[in-house]
Amino acid sequence: MLTPELVSRLRPAFDDDRDADTFLLRLERYGPELADNLRAVYGERADALLPELLEVMLHAYHARPADLRRLDEARLLRPDWLQAPDMVGYVAYADRFAGTLKGVGEKVGYLQDLGVKYLHLMPLLRPRDGENDGGYAVADYRAVREDLGSIDDLSALARDLRGKGISLVLDLVLNHVAEEHEWAVRARAGEAGYRDYFYVYPDREQPDAFEQTLPEVFPDFAPGNFTWDEALGGWVWTTFNRYQWDVNWSNPAVFREYLDIILTLANRGVEVFRLDAIAFLWKRLGTDCQNQPEVHHLTHALRAATRVVAPAVAFKAEAIVAPGDLIHYLGSRDHHGRVSDMAYHNSLMVQMWSALASRDVRLLSAALAAFPPKPTNTTWGSYVRCHDDIGWAVSDEDAARVGLSGPEHRRFLSDFYSGDFAGSFARGLVFQHNLQTGDRRISGTAASLAGLEQALESGDPARVDDALGRLLLLHTLMLGFGGVPLLYMGDELALLNDYAFADTPEHAPDNRWVHRPRMDWALAKAIQDDPTLPAARMNAGLRHLLAVRRRTPHLHASIESHPLPSPDPCVLLLRREHPLGVMVQVYNFSEHQIQFPAYVLRDQLGDGARDLLSDSHFHLTRPTLTLAPFRALWLVGAEA
Ligand code: GLC
Repeated sequence: MLTPELVSRLRPAFDDDRDADTFLLRLERYGPELADNLRAVYGERADALLPELLEVMLHAYHARPADLRRLDEARLLRPDWLQAPDMVGYVAYADRFAGTLKGVGEKVGYLQDLGVKYLHLMPLLRPRDGENDGGYAVADYRAVREDLGSIDDLSALARDLRGKGISLVLDLVLNHVAEEHEWAVRARAGEAGYRDYFYVYPDREQPDAFEQTLPEVFPDFAPGNFTWDEALGGWVWTTFNRYQWDVNWSNPAVFREYLDIILTLANRGVEVFRLDAIAFLWKRLGTDCQNQPEVHHLTHALRAATRVVAPAVAFKAEAIVAPGDLIHYLGSRDHHGRVSDMAYHNSLMVQMWSALASRDVRLLSAALAAFPPKPTNTTWGSYVRCHDDIGWAVSDEDAARVGLSGPEHRRFLSDFYSGDFAGSFARGLVFQHNLQTGDRRISGTAASLAGLEQALESGDPARVDDALGRLLLLHTLMLGFGGVPLLYMGDELALLNDYAFADTPEHAPDNRWVHRPRMDWALAKAIQDDPTLPAARMNAGLRHLLAVRRRTPHLHASIESHPLPSPDPCVLLLRREHPLGVMVQVYNFSEHQIQFPAYVLRDQLGDGARDLLSDSHFHLTRPTLTLAPFRALWLVGAEA
């Protein structure tokens, strides 16, 4: 496929020898990965696809602006840029944060002040009008939502951010398009080529066969995985909402389209692509149509092609799947470290909330211990909350390891976080009650789920202290775990649930909007004058954590956190083995003061330790160490 003749034919496409060398050297490096993975998916059809892709790549390479080429070189010199302890992410809706893209530009100072180096702006490419799944129903990948600005505003914002050391992260919705997207419109108009961009079936035979093993993503508002379309005269595959049409990745033309989209957006300055719903990309009868091997070949091929043109770009997998499946998104076997550079650690997030409710870390610890190791050049995205609901992805096996029943524990968590459990501190809403499986997912902001809403209503300062203790504990674990911590907009101010979401007709049916509030700039200002406000205490606590993290090399993400057996079920212990020395992290998940046996820490760290969070010294020769409620320690060895 990538024969020397083909490569030598490419040279005249360049005016400049150095340019040609750069492209051809990268092609020499990544071309075989591209070709092999295309062949694994498309067989002989890959032979015709490859020259088409090379054309797309050459075009984008020539069009790549000089400042982005410079960034490419810088990144090649610092391949671990996403792993550094000073890497901090912030996730926001452009409109809810600052109105428009220009508005976001005006708030860059706020982000810099927090230490943000990675800004994920939630879907902002032009979606369909009306209901659009929070922007995840894209009608045009080459235009921006009109109320936010223009595509040139996006380039300008990316440039501005880049100049200030902040990488722009955008969603790449690559499993589906809106039914208003040009491909869908042309398919409806009867163009056979575009009909092949989708999975369309003339009758129920195939859909019914697939449905036997397909789960339901939105059982409440979009039951089933296929939608009848009159104009198509067929059933079209719609995993998510009826207006989101799954694209057919078994068609090589679809691969070419998305590569072109990626490279076009990369040339506009997007540095990280969040590969939305990536697990669903490939369909296979008799399976749940998630995590199929072709998904990894496709990602590998996309990444290889992107590296040739824009090596500054990284991929982040949004695969909310079981740990055994998740690891493949960071790469195993031939794909080891060569697919997504980063993946959400959904399990860590779920287990944190589980431990907070049960005041018991044994399940969290067992789940982390059973996690397969990740490639060292890849990074977890760690998070406390995001724009989605929390699904109780606690496996029956993990639950059984610590003597729990999976279904019962999941029921407990749904009851607890919807406030149905007696004595629960949480205020959350049930999202997508699945009557078949009994699953009830949960919506709510971190602060409301951690008890702040209820505590403020009760007027009891001790309960407010506890709620803030919980919020900060979870953020400390997110920051200490090692990966890109993804702060969710508003959590730095402990924003509560926004029940007014129901007043917006296109949001009303989807209660995930309860945890997508508008930024409260008045509160952001007020905390400067009143440090006793809960928001001010959360903010100060978080800023302190971020400052400590930045100066702690032990938190480099190439190294993993491993749970240690803990003599106290309320206390999580994590160990990180860094060349500079061992670090042990201690997290008290209960509202009680705990006398923790010091020998456990002495075995790891020696007779003395320094806690980086409080900058204090501990004598580990004493029998016990006092842990205040929700106290966390980041310990490194020190003189006794
Ligand atoms: C991802 C998004 C979610 C969206 C879905 C479909 O899971 O996070 O918000 O509904 O993809 O695009």
